[in-house]
Order: sequence, then C-alpha cells, then structure tokens
Amino acid sequence: MRAVDLIETKRDGGALAPEEIRWLVGSYVAGRVPDYQMAAFLMAVYFRGMSEEETVALTQAMAESGERIDLSGVPGVKVDKHSTGGVGDTVTLVLVPLMAAAGLVVAKLSGRSLGHTGGTIDKLEAIPGLRTELTLEEIRRQAERVGAVVADHTADVVPADRLLYELRDVTGTVPSLPLIAGSVLSKKLAGGADAIVLDVKCGDGAFMREEAQARELAETLVRVGNRLGKRFSALITAMDEPLGTAAGNALEVKGAIAVLHGEGPADLREVTLALGAELLLLAGEVGSAEAGRARLADLIAWGRAWAKFRELVAAQGGDVRAIEEPDRLPTAQQVVEVPSPASGYVERLRAHPIGVACGLLGAGREVKGQAVDPGAGVELVAKVGDEAARGEPLARLHVGRPDRVPEATKLVRDAYTIGSQRARPKPLILGQVR
Ligand code: URA
Repeated sequence: MRAVDLIETKRDGGALAPEEIRWLVGSYVAGRVPDYQMAAFLMAVYFRGMSEEETVALTQAMAESGERIDLSGVPGVKVDKHSTGGVGDTVTLVLVPLMAAAGLVVAKLSGRSLGHTGGTIDKLEAIPGLRTELTLEEIRRQAERVGAVVADHTADVVPADRLLYELRDVTGTVPSLPLIAGSVLSKKLAGGADAIVLDVKCGDGAFMREEAQARELAETLVRVGNRLGKRFSALITAMDEPLGTAAGNALEVKGAIAVLHGEGPADLREVTLALGAELLLLAGEVGSAEAGRARLADLIAWGRAWAKFRELVAAQGGDVRAIEEPDRLPTAQQVVEVPSPASGYVERLRAHPIGVACGLLGAGREVKGQAVDPGAGVELVAKVGDEAARGEPLARLHVGRPDRVPEATKLVRDAYTIGSQRARPKPLILGQVR
C-alpha cells in the first residue's frame, strides 16, 4: 500500500477499507508515513468526512496502536469521562476525585491543549512536580490504591492519538467529527472503564458550534462507542461562554480547587455534578440523576472529593502545598487589565476568542512540542449577566508572551458584547444521548 493512494481516495470523496485505515495508522505510528502525508490525509478527512464503518475502523486502529489498561484485577466499578473540548473546561479535575470519593475507580487518559481549547494534562502539569506520563503498571497501581488517576496518552497506550492529536492541533484539522470520534473513543477503548460519560460541548467555544452538529457528534460517539462494547452516554453542554471564571492552566486548577472546596464558579460545579450523576446512574449506583447529584454534593461538602484530589496529586508526585495554598501555583510575569468600553450588562461573552487569546498569551502551542506557560491565561472578571462599568476591568490577561498582548487584548475586548439589558441565564445542559 502507498499513503499517497489512500490520501487521493479520501481527497476525491472515496471510502477506505478497514485494512487500509489500519495500515495507514500503523505505518504512521511506526514512523514509515511522515507527518506531511498524514497532515494531507487529515485535511482530506476534514473536508470529506468518514462513514460510520470508517470511523469504527479508525477508532479500532488507533486503540490497537498500543496496549490497553487492564483494570480487571482492580475491585469496584470502573468509570471514565471525556469532554470534546472547551474553554475553561476544568471539569475533569473535579470529577475524577469526586467519582473516586463515591467509591468508583477512574483511570483517565487525557490530552494537552488542542486548537483554542485547553487540555487537562497541561492543567495538571501546572502543579509543580506532578507527573502525567505514567507507565501502565503505575496507572493500574494508582487506580487500585487511590481510585483516581489522570495520565497522558503514553507511548504505551494509544500512541496513535498522541501523534495525531499533536498534528491536528497545528494543522487546522481538529473540528472533524470522525477525527474527534476516533480520538475520544480510542482512548476510552484502551482505558479500562466499563461505563463512560461524554461531555459534548456545543457553542462558540466548542468544535461543534451548532446544536444539530453537537447532537450528531454525541449520537455518533454513543453509537460507535456502544458498538465497540462499552456502556456510553453523552450530555450536550453549553460552551458559548467559557466555563468558570478563568481559562489557562494554573488559573483553571485554582477554579477546580475552589469547586472541590464547595465554592467556586456555579456553572463549573453544575456541569460537573450533571456528568457525575450520569456516571453514577450508568454504573448502577443510584436510581436517578437527582439522587446522584445529592450524593455528589454531600461528598464535596464533607471534604471527601478534596481529600481524593490531594491523594491523586501526591500519588503523581505533585507538590501538595501548591494545591493547599494555591497562591504557590505558577503565576504569569505580567497581568494586564482589559477595561470595559461602556457601562451596562454583559450580554454575550464568546468563548472562542477567549481560548485563542489564552493560547497567544502562552497557555497553548503554535507549533508541535512547544512548551506552555502554566501561569498564562485569561481571568474573566465579568461574565454574561454581570454588570460592567466603563473603564472597569472586564478581564485580566495573565501574560506569558508579552509581544502578544495587543492581539490578545483586542480578542478579549471584542469577545464581550455590552448592552443595556441584563441577559437571562441560558441552560447549561442542552441535551442527553443514551
Ligand atoms: N478531545 C479529544 O480527546 N480529542 C479530540 O479530538 C477532541 C477533544
């Protein structure tokens, strides 16, 4: 087989056979197909899409590119969660310890920043010393001992996603339904969970901006996932404005810590509880989502979720003092305010430009392998419905790359619409697919 023939077939709208997809993914992981051919293939998929059969084959080929996490010897129900990516979406940092506090086991493989969205691994690495590149044995042992692990997709597990993810990030090929499905589901297939909840983000800051697209992605993920032999369900959640009150790695760790202490942004807590309740339901632990929410709220109030987060951080070599006293987390070299151009109310706050600004300021990558600045990001002083006063800050830029401040300032200022009416809160949970 030749990569160029497969690229041309896809470029011209043809369908590939499962063995062709397996060959391409395997050859890329083995270093026999170079980045430039894979980038061309990804762009062809971006424009031409894939059939469900091709998506299943892609997912399987990616999952089979490495080893699987075997949690069969670990007692308890194994669950997992995955988000399709958003801005300020730090749900995993709260949900993983919360599920472990509820007695379930979560060994989660996560990613780094992708396009304009943040990545859990970059966020966790903002905690000094914390290791995310764990061996299979380390993942298994920590799952058994702590009940909660968050690891990077390693050289051993789903190496195909690690490589493709990095390439998509810098080639404009992220918002593609089959590529997102392959990426998300291959990690879930190689992970050891029995029940998985997917958070399909929808809106300005999501890869799927329209509700119909998000629903199609959610339905595809659940259908393909169930075909591959695991129990999946998905919530479609709002990502029109960022979640929480900040986007950026250390800034989001602080937001997650606040929610684990029973404080923090209400929207972040709400989405976390909704996904957690869905997982408890899928795992057969509760009879209704309401009962699940109540149980999770108690675990936060009793400090159990926080205790698990502490355990997770310590187990992965992180400096526990930095989460106990979050002022010890990395900070940016400079903070610049973005003042409001008018007085009134925030009518709209678009998540996409906030995510792009965050990346420009140092929280994301412009080329493969670039280091991120853990302290960089955007703090949102005002969100939709809040009052704004002319000249007062709408947001603060936490600057890692000072030459990008003018561009980031413009993006953040233009992300806000100030009007005269106080906007009504919009629903956070837009739909569900089981
Ligand atoms: N999350 C992933 O893991 N992969 C994607 O492609 C998008 C979101």
